[in-house]
Amino acid sequence: MISKFFYVDFQMVENEGPDAVSEVLVAVPNIQAKNLANLKAFLYNEGGKGSVVDLPVSIVHPEGMPPELSFYSVSSPEKLEKGASFSFILLAVFTHSLVPFPEEITQADSQLVVYQDSAYYLSPYAVKFQTLSVRLPGGRVESYTKHPSGKLVESEIRYGPFENLPAFSYSPIVVHFENNHPFAVAHELVREIEISHWGNVQVTEHYRLVHGGAQNKGGFSRLDYQSRMKGISSFRHLVAKLPPRAHSVYYRDEIGNISTSHLWGDSKKTQLEIEPRYPMFGGWRTFFTIGYGLPLKDFLFEGAGKRFLNITFGCPFEEVVIDNLLVKVVLPEGSKEISVSTPFPTEQKQEIKYSHLDISGRPVVVLEKSNVVPEHNLYFQVYYKFNNLSLLREPIMLICGFFFLFVACILYTRTDMSISKSSASYLAKLQLEEVRERVQQVQNIISRCLAVHDKVEASLRELSRTGDIQSCKIARKTADGLLKELTKELKPLLTYLQTSPQAANIWPKVEELVAKEREMQEKLMLKHSTVVDCFEKKLGGKEVENRIASQQQKLSALRQDVDDLLEIIDEFC
Ligand SMILES: *[C@@H]1O[C@H](CO)[C@@H](O)[C@H](O)[C@H]1NC(C)=O
Ligand SMILES: *[C@@H]1O[C@H](CO)[C@@H](O)[C@H](O)[C@H]1NC(C)=O
Repeated sequence: MISKFFYVDFQMVENEGPDAVSEVLVAVPNIQAKNLANLKAFLYNEGGKGSVVDLPVSIVHPEGMPPELSFYSVSSPEKLEKGASFSFILLAVFTHSLVPFPEEITQADSQLVVYQDSAYYLSPYAVKFQTLSVRLPGGRVESYTKHPSGKLVESEIRYGPFENLPAFSYSPIVVHFENNHPFAVAHELVREIEISHWGNVQVTEHYRLVHGGAQNKGGFSRLDYQSRMKGISSFRHLVAKLPPRAHSVYYRDEIGNISTSHLWGDSKKTQLEIEPRYPMFGGWRTFFTIGYGLPLKDFLFEGAGKRFLNITFGCPFEEVVIDNLLVKVVLPEGSKEISVSTPFPTEQKQEIKYSHLDISGRPVVVLEKSNVVPEHNLYFQVYYKFNNLSLLREPIMLICGFFFLFVACILYTRTDMSISKSSASYLAKLQLEEVRERVQQVQNIISRCLAVHDKVEASLRELSRTGDIQSCKIARKTADGLLKELTKELKPLLTYLQTSPQAANIWPKVEELVAKEREMQEKLMLKHSTVVDCFEKKLGGKEVENRIASQQQKLSALRQDVDDLLEIIDEFC
């Protein structure tokens, strides 16, 4: 059903007709022609020296020929006069022309395939002399069509020689033989080749691969596979020949990256060996992607005012036949006057691809071809014009983008800084408030002290009115106790204010206030003692006045200072 088959034909054509001719017809049965992937003709030079000269081949529809046949015309290098001759080699590649038989096999079986052809060379011309040999891959030959001239020599079946066969001679042959070659078929391959003028050609290839051989029946046993090496018809690895200097190579399937791939290479090529997650048996399929980067300078060139990509068309896996191949060349945004040159006919169209930062999108050249074999791994070219200024568009966009980003960052950090600043000032404000609160508490205590002073003064006035020394002494004791307690209360407040930086301005006033009040206390107590002493000694009112006059003076001055200080401190709060 599958795989490629080389059909090498050596012809020496002689014109026996009366007119000069310039082409030779090649016939292929329609049933095979639909599987004909590639047909090439080369001029045969004696001794095999010199360069290979391709002869043009084209499909033709000559009149009066059997409709079951397709015809191709090979141009002769020069007009053939009567009696002249030339030799050429024909190379045809057919896919899907080996049919697995039996159609289903187990894991343990070898795969057998059937090949059908004609022992006689099918030609619109009479054939003077011909042989056929069918080269097999080796291994068992189940059967082959017997023919008087047929014989099997090692793994080659030979028919002929035949002489003087009339035109369109046909003698069917069937060969049934073992063939365990990996029948790897890509139902579809999408190759995306993206050009970046910044130095890279990125290739991404998506495969829908199937083992196109005899279907596996009876399931798959990994244990059998591993322990007894069963599974001769399966394949485990595929090797891709990538261009030299390929880099960033990866291989993944639907599940994710597969690490069981090996990469090695030299200056001429890079080889990637991939290993699907399970061995591939007949009918089994796998989806996978490989990707790699290539240096731009190896594939992009300039000429005649245009740039052109020159890269191979087919797939890098040598054993793979591709039913349908899509090659997408993604050009840089702004590319113009696009044209394509391929060594064989393909279907062509254009698309647009959008990616990050694209405004008008990237032009994509899409080339489609069915029935692709490794012989199609030829160079093709995509020509386009590109304005270098377009190259700057994306960096300028990026630069602008980054510029705005930086501006935004600066604004953000500014804002951030003002936040931290305000939070610092907020903290300072909090501390200042705390200082104020403490200062107010100090004021409050001082006021309470002054109230105690007033009580002491009041007890002295009471004494002079009633002469009750005892209650005056009690009042003094109470006052002493209160003042002591207030002093105690004052202590932590003063410690706080003395050490707080926020209180630096007000602290001297507070300190002065406290000192003045203390002095007042001393003077007041001294006055109290003096008055009581005078009363105990029963001295006259005048005498008492005289004795305390200077103390009274001092006390009034101190009281004035304390009031002034309280007022100043009030302003601070
Ligand atoms: C797979 O590998 C490639 C190349 O090493 C890497 O760029 C990619 O991010 C990986 N993907 C996952 C899904 O790990
Ligand atoms: C493309 O590259 C191949 C291999 O390097 C070269 O032989 C061929 O001449 C190139 N084609 C063009 C059009 O430059």
